[in-house]
Amino acid sequence: MSETAKIELGGETFELPVIEGTENEKAIDIKSLRGLTGYITLDTGFKNTGSTTSSITYLDGENGILRYRGYPIEQLAERASFLEVAYLLIYGELPTQLQLDEFTNSITQHTLVHEDMKQFFEAYPAKAHPMGVLASMVCSLSTFYPESLDPNRGEDAKNLTIHRLIAKLPTLAAWSYKNAMRHPFMYPRNDMDYCANFLNMMFAMPTGEYEPDPVVVTALNKLLILHADHEQNCSASTVRIVGSSHANLYASISAGIAALWGPLHGGANQAVIEMLQKIAEDGGDVDKWVAKAKDKDDPFRLMGFGHRVYKNFDPRATIIKKACDEVLAKLGVDDPMLDIAKRLEQVALEDEYFKERNLYPNVDFYSGIIYKAIGIPTEMFTVMFALGRLPGWIAQWKEMLENGDPIGRPRQIYTGANEREYVNIANR
Ligand code: CMC
Repeated sequence: MSETAKIELGGETFELPVIEGTENEKAIDIKSLRGLTGYITLDTGFKNTGSTTSSITYLDGENGILRYRGYPIEQLAERASFLEVAYLLIYGELPTQLQLDEFTNSITQHTLVHEDMKQFFEAYPAKAHPMGVLASMVCSLSTFYPESLDPNRGEDAKNLTIHRLIAKLPTLAAWSYKNAMRHPFMYPRNDMDYCANFLNMMFAMPTGEYEPDPVVVTALNKLLILHADHEQNCSASTVRIVGSSHANLYASISAGIAALWGPLHGGANQAVIEMLQKIAEDGGDVDKWVAKAKDKDDPFRLMGFGHRVYKNFDPRATIIKKACDEVLAKLGVDDPMLDIAKRLEQVALEDEYFKERNLYPNVDFYSGIIYKAIGIPTEMFTVMFALGRLPGWIAQWKEMLENGDPIGRPRQIYTGANEREYVNIANR
């Protein structure tokens, strides 16, 4: 007989089914709990709540395991291309050469954005944060492609919307940077691969030659793969919950970009560099800043440390740390920030406070250092994360629709005032 969980309430025992995943992780299915008992479960921050079953990404935080569709992140980061991983995440299997060629070709066909969208960019102030611009631009795509408004319009229409988004995000991302610089926009180059084309749109100028450095292209490919999915994190859950109302893909991804922006999530990569800069400007006393992070009366936290699910090490951080050393060596970059980062990492890893709480450097601790080395401006770091995370968001959105998941609608325990009479303003 399959396993069940028993819950005792008011002298009565209720039995609830247990669900088991393919990696033997277990959950108590509480769908019937309220109907049976009148109780709901409460779990702020969803620290111990599964919001769905999913076959996209497997993550074991205790053992530092991350796999996309069963393939270890280490193998994908070393051997695959970003578009190959995007295909894997979205369609469930590694593509054959023909499938990859067709997918790449379709993406390449759609890299241009409508000329009218240029006017939107020009209306933003130069100091506009590129994440704000990107979220708005992605949502605006829905206004140019009204046929995308119904997410259930059939496979071909869904795929066209998906391919358009993967194709156009690098263009929109690079243009948000060019706009901030008040530099002319560079059009996509369809003779370049996905990463090289993005770098070209970021760094080329109509006035001169630019050839993306292969070291940088390879590093970027790896970074995008490492960020491509991370199961039910804050932004992926946002995409799924927005999409669960059957809002279109562009609107759902735009919401995901907004969720990613925060410094506790993707915005941490920008926050790490800003923190390292602050420590450097303050004289580089790492111990002082570690003490501040431990002080409960001080709001300061070590950015790039800690993770909701990784409690041993972040496998992405291990890969990225190695890549970081390689890229800096190959590019001959000698960054004093890296020195502070290394000292900070060492002090924190040896400190009881961090050890007790399983606080290790996460992916964002190192990604910012690589982005800085390859010339990406700090405000663009989270945009880079969004570029990488896009296939994961799309895969989560597609799976949610295909599984027929119901609209996301959590309950609450109300703690406000009991019923009271309205009082006219003159009598308050
Ligand atoms: N510096 C100092 N103390 C910390 C830190 C930190 N970076 N992170 C957690 N703690 C402490 C926290 O104060 C708490 O201590 P206590 O038990 O004494 O109250 C304990 O560790 C547990 O922290 P929590 O906030 O309850 O853990 P959480 O799972 O809710 O938060 C986190 C996870 C990532 C938001 C948090 O660790 C954090 O704020 N880290 C810094 C921001 C960061 O690097 N975010 C990027 C995450 S990786 C990229 C991504 O996937 O989004």
